[in-house]
Amino acid sequence: MAARERWASRIGLILAMAGNAVGLGNFLRFPTQAAQNGGGVFMIPYMISLILIAIPLMWVEWAIGRYGGVRGHGTTPAIFRLLWHHPLAKYVGVLGLFVPFVVSCYYVYIESWTLGYAVMSLLGMLPKIPATAGDPEAYLAPYRDFLAHYTGMGEGDIFRPSPIAYAFFLITMVMNIYILIKGISGGIEKLAKVAMPLLFFLAVILMVRVITLETPNGSAVQGLNFLWEPKWSELANPKVWLAAAGQVFFTLSLGFGAIITYASYLKRNDDLTLSALTASSLNELAEVVLGGSIAIPAAAAFFGVAAAQTIAASGAFNLAFVSLPAIFANIPLGQVFGFIWFILLFFAGLTSSVAITQPVIAFLEDEFRLDRRLAVLITMFVLFGIAHVPIFLAGALDEMDFWAGTFFVVVFALCEVLIFFWAFSPSAAWAEINRGGFIKLPRIFFYIMRYVTPAFLALITAWWLFKVLPGYLAESRWTAWVAREVLVSIMALFCFLVYYQDRRRRRRKK
Ligand code: PHE
Repeated sequence: MAARERWASRIGLILAMAGNAVGLGNFLRFPTQAAQNGGGVFMIPYMISLILIAIPLMWVEWAIGRYGGVRGHGTTPAIFRLLWHHPLAKYVGVLGLFVPFVVSCYYVYIESWTLGYAVMSLLGMLPKIPATAGDPEAYLAPYRDFLAHYTGMGEGDIFRPSPIAYAFFLITMVMNIYILIKGISGGIEKLAKVAMPLLFFLAVILMVRVITLETPNGSAVQGLNFLWEPKWSELANPKVWLAAAGQVFFTLSLGFGAIITYASYLKRNDDLTLSALTASSLNELAEVVLGGSIAIPAAAAFFGVAAAQTIAASGAFNLAFVSLPAIFANIPLGQVFGFIWFILLFFAGLTSSVAITQPVIAFLEDEFRLDRRLAVLITMFVLFGIAHVPIFLAGALDEMDFWAGTFFVVVFALCEVLIFFWAFSPSAAWAEINRGGFIKLPRIFFYIMRYVTPAFLALITAWWLFKVLPGYLAESRWTAWVAREVLVSIMALFCFLVYYQDRRRRRRKK
């Protein structure tokens, strides 16, 4: 058996893991979610979810990944089978392929918008409308139209993206393929070592620029205040809890299988406790400090806190692709700041998209013995094909994001902890996490991982199943059902591959 790839250095590993986690979620999704859920209300359940679910899960995913990697497997169909001797284990593990693959089918597309906008901003191709006093809606309209024209997302059932958007999608695909073919240490790790420091540097520049913004409508500091002033009274609202837990999952790439696959390139006795904590801290720094200090405060300074909230609530992309270009058009050197903003997003997206595509690639390499180049090409070819569903079909992107990016991540995370801390063995799981660790985890985390995290996850899953899903399924248009059929086909395909591979493996053993 050929040796599996390995990370070349600890710093490279940590930056790659941080690159995995720091993504569009930090700079687009976080501010939008925070604004939609009342700002200061959101941050409390966010912090609680971080400590009780996310950080423990992060250690669990690293440990599961390292355990599998040492035994030659980087994805959960095989790893769950090793941990839990049950015929169903491998099919539960299919979620670890389904979730990242489905998300990758729209993630790369959105990532390509950021590259497109970066280039267009630099070349001065974005609208430039002088800010007028009064209703921000009137003044934002041209930017909204521009985005609608670029993505082709309109009222109808079929979208018509502009050729520029399609061209940037192709370019983004090629860049991803190039990095993935170079491999773990030769591609992903090298990218992270350049892109991550650059990303932090660019984000700090923007943050400083934004914090000093002040207009007759308001100041950036008011935006910060909105985000950070706790409103305890709203804690009883389950919707805010779901949104906060969902954001923590998304931003840390938890429940996606992506952390597990990256961790599978660790060595048996490599530190995991401190490295996982460091990578998570870098992500939280990028999210709450940098992500929280750019889009919302800038919008608050220009349009006032109330209007900023309305903009954020009007859709996930309006803050980043509509209100920020409108703001940059009105400050000196705006073209350059616009470029910095979008290229920052692009680096954040690129270091994440290679992470979401890696599980399926690793699956083909480890379980079907394909060489890396072929595994990458097959994966990206199928991804490219399926990406046309969210590109052209109205509502498909939201549908895929809902099932894979929101619902199944929680279910999958629940399966992970249950398999590791219940089916496998609590003491062996705990020892596995701590082996080689530069810090020893306080014993209390053992109880959190065994009881609190699964209970919390089960509660969220139940809430989705009984409170959200029925209403969600009832009010959907035909395009949503097409998207669902595509999702079912993807799931069926992975189940078949797992079944087929398992049968071959047993035959070989006989
Ligand atoms: N964490 C990434 C973000 O914040 C998204 C992601 C999820 C990336 C899963 C890789 C795997 O955008």
